[in-house]
Amino acid sequence: MKAILAILACAAIMSSCMDQYNPVPYWKQFTSERQITSAKNLKLTEKGEIPAPTVAIAETDPISGKYASLCSSCHGADGKADGAAAAAMNPKPRNFHDKVWQAKVDDAHIAKAIKEGGAAVGLSGTMPPWGGVLSDDEIKGLVAKIRDWGK
Ligand code: HEC
Repeated sequence: MKAILAILACAAIMSSCMDQYNPVPYWKQFTSERQITSAKNLKLTEKGEIPAPTVAIAETDPISGKYASLCSSCHGADGKADGAAAAAMNPKPRNFHDKVWQAKVDDAHIAKAIKEGGAAVGLSGTMPPWGGVLSDDEIKGLVAKIRDWGK
């Protein structure tokens, strides 16, 4: 009986030790950090932290994918309208981080600008209409994405 208890106690101690040295969680973290740091255009956040993995997000988040392929050339990858194309434009594409603008417009205005283009809301026709390419749901998703940048 004592022997059995001793074996059980030993097993319990060993398994808790093994947990401590289990490499799997560390390996997972290492792999995801490596993915982030090997991403192109890696920039630390304003607080100096490593940003969340955007590579994986673009694949699992179709709205961000649409933004990246259709809008980022003018409005910038991060919605700051700071791309090379934007510099040459007059008027400049909207910087979605502009809090004054965010407070001034409602979601319907943003959706209409996206769907029907700049001209439909009294802005420059350089902002193309996207109604033919994007569904209403996708436009709704883009509005939410733009709003997130204003927070
Ligand atoms: C060819 C460049 C270009 C592309 C591509 C583009 N935009 Fe624009 N966008 C502009 C410009 C320029 C303006 C500003 C027009 C003005 O101020 O007169 C603008 C304005 C806007 C506005 C209105 C802002 C306001 O002042 O009310 C929204 C919303 C917007 N864009 C969203 C998008 C979204 C979403 C996409 C992608 C589906 C997109 N844009 C793609 C150039 C572009």
